[in-house]
Amino acid sequence: MFAASDLSALPKEELYRGLSAQLSALIEGETDPVANMANCASLIFNSVPRLNWAGFYLLKGGELVLGPFQGQPACVRIEIGRGVCGTAAEKRTTVRIADVTKFPDHIACDSASRSEIVVPLVSADSHLLGVLDVDSPELDRFDAEDEAGFRAIGKIIAAKL
Ligand code: SME
Repeated sequence: MFAASDLSALPKEELYRGLSAQLSALIEGETDPVANMANCASLIFNSVPRLNWAGFYLLKGGELVLGPFQGQPACVRIEIGRGVCGTAAEKRTTVRIADVTKFPDHIACDSASRSEIVVPLVSADSHLLGVLDVDSPELDRFDAEDEAGFRAIGKIIAAKL
């Protein structure tokens, strides 16, 4: 059994360093992408404080389709270019939204979400694979340290997709 150690009280830099290390250990030796994304979503959701949703949308047939996640049931399909997820996918850049009510095209899956960060997942040969989406019920929950942490996690998981 994998025992995740409690990282939630650590300073952010240490939290994300620990999270990356735990994720690498957790998915090492497993090639199934769904299993690895499922464990990644669980690890994020249970280790990073003050979240209400953490999970994946995967590029399938030219749109984003819901993948493994933790949190409330969510919208299944998102067009590229729509919402925070579709914007991050289209621009292939991390999108960090302090207040989702001020992002005109925000797609509200869970009405509790107040802030959101979406990291694009890109293959070694530069193909878009999907996005990692993390939501918080707190306004302005994600800063540059969170962004660096989730980007590091995105790199680790993208290498296994
Ligand atoms: N809010 C996202 C949709 C996905 S949910 O947050 C899980 C968006 O605007 O793309």
